[in-house]
Amino acid sequence: MAKKTVQDVDVRGKRVLVRCDFNVPLDKNQQITDDLRIRAALPTLQYLLEHGAAVILCSHLGRPKGKVVEEMRLTPVAARLQELLGVPVCKTDTVVGDDVTAAVAAMQPGDVVLLENTRFEAGDEKNDPELSRKLASLADLFVNDAFGAAHRAHASTAGVADYIPAVSGLLMGREVQVLGDALSAPVRPLVVILGGAKISDKIGVIENLLNKADRILIGGGMANTFFAAKGYDLGDSLVEPDAIATAADLMARAGDRLMLPVDAVLADAFSAEANTRVALPTEVGAGWRILDIGPRTVEVFSEVIAQAGTVIWNGPMGVFEMAPFAKGTFAIARALAASKAMSIVGGGDSGAAVQESGVADQIDHISTGGGASLEFLEGLELPGVAALQEK
Ligand code: 3PG
Repeated sequence: MAKKTVQDVDVRGKRVLVRCDFNVPLDKNQQITDDLRIRAALPTLQYLLEHGAAVILCSHLGRPKGKVVEEMRLTPVAARLQELLGVPVCKTDTVVGDDVTAAVAAMQPGDVVLLENTRFEAGDEKNDPELSRKLASLADLFVNDAFGAAHRAHASTAGVADYIPAVSGLLMGREVQVLGDALSAPVRPLVVILGGAKISDKIGVIENLLNKADRILIGGGMANTFFAAKGYDLGDSLVEPDAIATAADLMARAGDRLMLPVDAVLADAFSAEANTRVALPTEVGAGWRILDIGPRTVEVFSEVIAQAGTVIWNGPMGVFEMAPFAKGTFAIARALAASKAMSIVGGGDSGAAVQESGVADQIDHISTGGGASLEFLEGLELPGVAALQEK
């Protein structure tokens, strides 16, 4: 059901609390290494400022577990946001302390205040009503634009909606619409590409898509457990023994809609310096492990992608952090970019891989949510979305 968005309510002269997902990667010098999530929040923030709202922002960063962790302060986020937004961003030192009350009391329309990392308060992850109420008391309206954190039922993503009207931001709206349309009314054929290390993370997604997708292409370490279910000797490859029976069952039910790699890049160690060779998955042998899909698989998968109407991709095809095992993932990114299909990439590792492959601007939608987009593809209701008012 469609949720009210920020465009459906009057924001002029209002104080608006906006939950963003500013959980961005930082290097050891506290520099932001990928600001996609900050840039993705700009349309909502610009809309609110242009329509005369005073904007109070909040977000988590990392997992500080209810304590103040100096390296997880939102200070670098405030600086980057100020640059991108072109207006001053006043960052507080606490989430709901006296400095916040004072800063918010002094706000005028057009002002921007960024609260400190919400997870410095233990009540955030516990969805504590007291914290939710305090956050809500700062504002007239709650806007949730944190799609990346929408699978969390926390005070700052869901609880606050119990106390003030809550609507969707523009990013949240687009994420839910793009992913929702791809599942409910895709341009066919619908091709789903799944990768990543573990099949156990993706079983729910395969279950939900088994009868929706026309093709499910499997790569990454998770393909190994399917090979194990076929009885192949995989040498030192990563396999999840507990999931072999599930893999066999999924293969039987999917039939030829589920496609596994036809060749693989093998290594004799988990290292960028390892010796490598290309082989059939039936020919791995002792002392070798699968670390990427092979060139023939790239051709086969690329052909399927070229003919697709919609492609959803979640999870890399190999250990793309190491150059000798990145070719498969980057080739799939290029195939997706070249295809006429509506192309959707889940956040997390596959989002990062697409950025690194240099074709991000040719992909229709790169989600800002890793875990959230996976849960969405599993067909689960996201608490951060469920809490919002219906249209
Ligand atoms: C993410 O990076 O996937 C989101 O920001 C959620 O973070 P979390 O897994 O720590 O809740």
